[in-house]
Amino acid sequence: MTKEINTIAVCGLSWGDEGKGKVTDYLAQQSDIVVRYNGGNNAGHTIEANGIKYKFKLIPSGAVLEKEVVIGNGCVINPKVLLEEINNLNKLNKKVDLKLSSTAHVIFPFHIALDGLEEASKGEYSAGTTKRGIGPTYSDKAGRWGIRIFDLIHPEFLKPKLEKLFQIKKNLIKTYDPNWDMDLESIFQDYKTYGERLKAYVTDTAYYLNKAIDSGKKVVFEGAQGNLLCIDHGMYPFGTSSNPNALGISAGTGIPPKKIGKIVGIIKAYTSRVGEGKFPTELFNDIAEKIREQGHEYGTVTGRPRRVGWLDLFNIKYGIMINGIDKIIITLLDALHGITPIKMCIGYELNGQILESWPIQHEIIEKCKPIYKEFEGWEKKSSEEWSEIANQGYDSLPNAMKIYLQAIKEELKTDIAIISIGPNRNDTIVLDEDLF
Ligand code: GDP
Ligand code: IMO
Ligand code: MG
Repeated sequence: MTKEINTIAVCGLSWGDEGKGKVTDYLAQQSDIVVRYNGGNNAGHTIEANGIKYKFKLIPSGAVLEKEVVIGNGCVINPKVLLEEINNLNKLNKKVDLKLSSTAHVIFPFHIALDGLEEASKGEYSAGTTKRGIGPTYSDKAGRWGIRIFDLIHPEFLKPKLEKLFQIKKNLIKTYDPNWDMDLESIFQDYKTYGERLKAYVTDTAYYLNKAIDSGKKVVFEGAQGNLLCIDHGMYPFGTSSNPNALGISAGTGIPPKKIGKIVGIIKAYTSRVGEGKFPTELFNDIAEKIREQGHEYGTVTGRPRRVGWLDLFNIKYGIMINGIDKIIITLLDALHGITPIKMCIGYELNGQILESWPIQHEIIEKCKPIYKEFEGWEKKSSEEWSEIANQGYDSLPNAMKIYLQAIKEELKTDIAIISIGPNRNDTIVLDEDLF
């Protein structure tokens, strides 16, 4: 007998920052558990509700509503950052009902040092990382000498593994910077303390989640980063070191693919990117400046101004294929107000030929020319006016916005489930009441 599966995944289809935090919090209202399955504190997820702005790097966005939150084995953990986030929530009188996978890998200070040094030595191939040690930690996981949360909470296992790893990394770092040094004993003491403080949260999350899903609990999987930053299916090497798309959920949680009920793909009404790498629809003019200001496009983690450009439906179609997207969620429609015409990329041209599928290789993408459609924009409104429109529902949206949304739906051949016209939880219009 097939059991009913009450799970939904929210996956970014672009280069991250699509509004996953906002939408996850929205869906969390109807859920029991929210799960992160990839990435670490390179992520920055923002939620605004009841006049408070929350910014999470590691804690799943369900924490605002004090839901059960799970950090899966596919994540990499900076324990100091995680403890700070728990502490910040406690200060707001929020109960943190966290389960942390014993097999997630741990970020150490030498990973962070290596991130910066390796980036500097990569030159034109540098991805412009967040310098949080993400790549070096996933490298050690794949190299099979990484240190896991289980080791962190058992100092007797942590010590010999850390001594070995430290020596290996020290030798490597010294090839970049002969004067580099760190005190092994103080790292051990700090991490032993972190382990003691995190111990109560650590469990076998794969077992826990499978049991919860089998018993009918409603679960939201919250992606970090976006499809185009995927280590396997993104614009390599200008991406991150995990699988941010739906393909990463099973490996990053221990939940089999057949238990992932629905997969929704989240996009902005335009495109943004932080860090390096090709961006075919990127804008550099006063329109870029306007979108950046109206969308507050500055990185949550590093504060870097985000690069912005027109919506690229060609790479989103690719994301729909890779993720197996059921429905689309579109955010930041309000941020395009007062801009006309608005352009939308519907394909790429290469050497006079229209491409059939997104070319993936950055060396080819560089030579492609986006093909655009133009749309009339909509009038500028105050955030209060947008909130009021959200309150009234879809019919109250500006006509030009409805035409833009219809074009996205037709071009992607995918229905739109939710639209977002402001940063607050309530600035949201649901078009599919049966989504979850
Ligand atoms: P995430 O990494 O995908 O969770 O996205 P971020 O939180 O890094 O970036 C999205 C930004 O847009 C945040 O500052 C959100 O508060 C904000 N945001 C989300 N949806 C909307 C929207 O519909 N309109 C506006 N104006 N801001 C939004
Ligand atoms: P959220 O979850 C946007 C980008 C970095 C860099 C590349 C590799 O908030 O959407 P890393 O530190 O992961 O090794 O950096 O990936 N990047 C993000 N860009 N949003 C994110 O997360 C990102 N996480 C990493 O800018 O180009
Ligand atoms: Mg973000």
